[in-house]
Amino acid sequence: HTYESPRQLLAGKRIVVTAGGTQEPLDPVRYLTNRSSGKMGYAIAEAAQVAGADVTLISANAALPTPSNVKLVRVQTAAELLTSVQQNFATADILIMAAAVADYRPKTVATQKIKKTANNETMTLQLVRNPDILKTVAASKEPNQVIVGFAAETNDLLANATKKIAAKKLDLIVANDVSNHQIGFNSENNQVTFLFANGEKTKTALESKRAVANELITILANKFSFNE
Ligand code: CTP
Ligand code: CA
Repeated sequence: HTYESPRQLLAGKRIVVTAGGTQEPLDPVRYLTNRSSGKMGYAIAEAAQVAGADVTLISANAALPTPSNVKLVRVQTAAELLTSVQQNFATADILIMAAAVADYRPKTVATQKIKKTANNETMTLQLVRNPDILKTVAASKEPNQVIVGFAAETNDLLANATKKIAAKKLDLIVANDVSNHQIGFNSENNQVTFLFANGEKTKTALESKRAVANELITILANKFSFNE
């Protein structure tokens, strides 16, 4: 497949993309995670690189080939992802948070493998909230920086996604219905609605993740002030 990609639309721009799903360790052999494959974020990183951007891809545990000419940073946990995003955001024009970040992590990480106990048929895990990465970086956002979030929802897609634009001070959110397995986690295709802070929205066709990525690149190049 070759893509008629938005050539050079993002020439000279520094773009940070996060992808994959964080893993939150419980003990040396176990962790909590989610169903994100990283395919959407990797497709965005590739499309941005082809469009001429200087791309840093922060990958949370994605088992995917590294796109050409992209700087790859690997992280495991939400805490590591936060540190890397903070380091890279300062000099970025655009941050695209496609990673699925664990909302909670185990309160303690056992240093040895946790054993069953003889009389306990149930066990309770204590979890603590992870920091909200988008909210954290929004605090240091310069007016010419653009921040894009993702919202994967199983219900009330647009209402939930709209709330996240305001809560996280986003310029744009990519809303994704993950109740439909043709377009959700780990699928090859996607269908999303781009929702803007001003209430505008556009829905894509059901198409490859690379095609969705190209649409996002075109929107970013056309819509935002850094391009002017
Ligand atoms: N996100 C983040 N930091 C977190 C959790 C999520 O930066 N700790 C980002 C995700 O990368 C995504 C956006 O916030 O771009 C929305 O993630 P989502 O899980 O849909 O929203 P939450 O705010 O976590 O709300 P909830 O899961 O309760 O719906
Ligand atoms: Ca969440």
